[in-house]
Amino acid sequence: MQLPFRPSTKLLIASLSCATLITAISCRHRAEAPANESISPVESVYRGPDTSTIPHDEFGDAVRYGRELIVNTAYYLGPNGTVAKHLGNKMNCGSCHLDAGTRPYGLNYFSTHARYPQYRGRENRILTLAERVNNCIERPHHGKAMPLDSKEMVAIVSYMKWLSTNVPVGKNIDGDGAAELDYPNRPASIGNGAQVYAMHCVRCHMPDGEGQLKPDSTMYLYPPLWGMGSYDKGSSMHRVLKAARFIKANMPYQQAYWDKPLLTDAEAIDVAAFINDDRIHPRPESQFTPGYPNIEKKPIDYYKPPFADTFSTHQHKFGPYRPIIEYHKATGLPVIF
Ligand code: HEC
Ligand code: HEC
Repeated sequence: MQLPFRPSTKLLIASLSCATLITAISCRHRAEAPANESISPVESVYRGPDTSTIPHDEFGDAVRYGRELIVNTAYYLGPNGTVAKHLGNKMNCGSCHLDAGTRPYGLNYFSTHARYPQYRGRENRILTLAERVNNCIERPHHGKAMPLDSKEMVAIVSYMKWLSTNVPVGKNIDGDGAAELDYPNRPASIGNGAQVYAMHCVRCHMPDGEGQLKPDSTMYLYPPLWGMGSYDKGSSMHRVLKAARFIKANMPYQQAYWDKPLLTDAEAIDVAAFINDDRIHPRPESQFTPGYPNIEKKPIDYYKPPFADTFSTHQHKFGPYRPIIEYHKATGLPVIF
């Protein structure tokens, strides 16, 4: 299939943000950064196969289309999607699965293909990989599931299979998921989080948290962190610990990397709590929430009761988390993040 030419998101970001940046220092940092800014000095983690090795055959065509759908999801499948209208918002898969799902500790897909079919607590049943993709379409994208045999679904799954080239089947690899965290012995501080946000995040994600659309309004230059155009309640990024692990390893964008985080663990947790505090920041709630019919399988930082223990909903969401983890270990309850 012939894909329309899309300018690279990174180029757009680099050129536009230099014009709008407040400090010359940040601009210089950007100008001096190597061409591929996601490359870090640490080379021990898996990087995935080179896109030049995608085969020139039917499977390769599906892989290329799948990659394109991950990067420019809203253009094809968004509320005004050119192929179909599945997403309820204009975020891309790549807004969270960074570098088209290839960034170490940036929610990459390297070992994803082999992880499915897998039991999922939210649905309390076994999901195939295609169903798991639909799970992210329903929330965080506040959308409608794609047909499992659609060309787009097959392309996305094909891309994930190709990305797993050389990854040992059924094993986790370095760089899976997001960064690890030490949990402070105090609840997350919304006040500190607001300060971190003002200092390190606001210039891209904006004071209203709603990010910035590209000039043609199809997709975001900087995706929203809250507001009705952002991810749903109950999605993984809405969970303070999941969000904090992602933020620590990847934000502020192009300044922090998994091996060079800018925020401390406590700052990452505080800013994740600030972003995800439903008392001050609205966001959509999908019909698929709350899920977890078996409450023992509920992640400890989920936002909605009931829980299998007696800790308050507030403590589950904002911590301190260690007493919950210790209690679960002591009583044989699973500790799920
Ligand atoms: C708002 C952020 C966000 C967006 C947008 C998003 N995801 Fe996700 N996705 C996540 C998070 C967080 C996880 C959980 C990762 C974990 O548990 O470590 C996840 C998990 C997944 C998984 C399971 C990965 C695994 O290895 O088990 C798949 C598959 C997936 N997403 C596909 C997609 C696709 C396809 C899109 C676009 C249609 C998408 N996601 C959009 C945040 C997002
Ligand atoms: C230089 C601009 C910039 C700064 C500063 C920045 N971000 Fe981002 N952020 C981005 C971009 C760009 C993406 C999406 C990446 C992509 O699409 O490839 C993103 C994605 C995200 C996401 C996942 C997508 C979403 O909308 O939920 C979260 C969460 C996030 N940023 C949080 C933060 C936090 C917290 C800070 C401050 C500590 C921060 N960001 C600072 C540019 C920035």
